[in-house]
Order: sequence, then structure tokens, then C-alpha cells
Amino acid sequence: VASASAPVEKSYIMIKPDGVQRGLVGEVIGRFERKGFKLVGLKMFRCPRQLAEEHYGELKDRPFFPKLVDYITSGPVVCMVWEGDGVVASARKLIGKTDPLEADPGTIRGDLGLHKGRNVVHGSDSPENGLRETGEEELITEGMNVSVTAN
Ligand code: TYD
Ligand code: MG
Repeated sequence: VASASAPVEKSYIMIKPDGVQRGLVGEVIGRFERKGFKLVGLKMFRCPRQLAEEHYGELKDRPFFPKLVDYITSGPVVCMVWEGDGVVASARKLIGKTDPLEADPGTIRGDLGLHKGRNVVHGSDSPENGLRETGEEELITEGMNVSVTAN
């Protein structure tokens, strides 16, 4: 049982530039809404280079890192904070495997993507990273945590 002071689990979900350019924003948001998680922050912006490098900091020694940062800064992204018990692991299931060709049908990447480097959406990989990533930007507007459903 979570104590009153335990933070609610959050996942940082980002629709990447390919998803925005292909008109998949509504499709992606709809899947999270239908699942039942709670949207508590939303913002569209062009990710500055430094923030992209921090966001993917754990991957900075990987050969694809420069291309990844180029790509994620290449156009607008839609960033969201989704909240709920188990949201991090569940969002990863809804998103599917990193390589869309290996992702199962029924997942976002499995249904909508073709290339590992253009895989539509990001989702936090642990509750700790969920809190870190949702804190990177001012995503949760004041007043947004007012509950509109019975929790
Ligand atoms: P990673 O965190 O391993 O995947 P995920 O997004 O599923 O958590 O990698 C971050 C992003 O880096 C990934 O979404 C796409 C890109 N990437 C490549 O372009 N090539 C690769 O070989 C890998 C592993 C990732
Ligand atoms: Mg990852």
C-alpha cells in the first residue's frame, strides 16, 4: 500500500518527430486514453540539442547517438506525462519493442513503424527515469493535477 507521500508513478511519453509529421498524434494519445491512464501534462515543442543529449545521456557512447540526437531535434515533438500505478511498464507494452519490425502487432511501433531510428514514440524505461524525464521540462501545468475521475 502506497503511503500518502509516495509519488504517483509517471511515464514520460514523447511522440517523436516522425510521429508528429505523419499525423499520428491523435492515434498515439488515443491508445493511452483508451487504456485508462491519466494525462497530467502535454506540450508540443522543438527539443533543444542540450536537452536531447541529457534525455538520452545513458546512450551517449553508442554509435547511433549522434544520429539519434539529430533526429529527435529535427522537428516538433509532443511530450506528455501519463500517470497511474504501473504506467511505466504498461506504456512500454503498449509501445512495443524498440525495432518496429520486431514489435508485436497491436503495439504502437508494431502497427505504425518500420525503422528502429524512426519508431514513433518514446516511453520511460523505469519509474525512476519516469520521474527524471517528466521533470526535465515544465510539462505539468498548475491546476492539472485536479482529479476529474474517482481515483
Ligand atoms: P533505447 O532506449 O535502447 O530504446 P527504447 O526507445 O525502446 O527505450 O534507444 C533509444 C532510441 O535510440 C530508440 O528508440 C531508437 C534509437 N536507437 C537506434 O536508432 N538504434 C539502435 O540500435 C538502438 C538500440 C536505438
Ligand atoms: Mg529507452
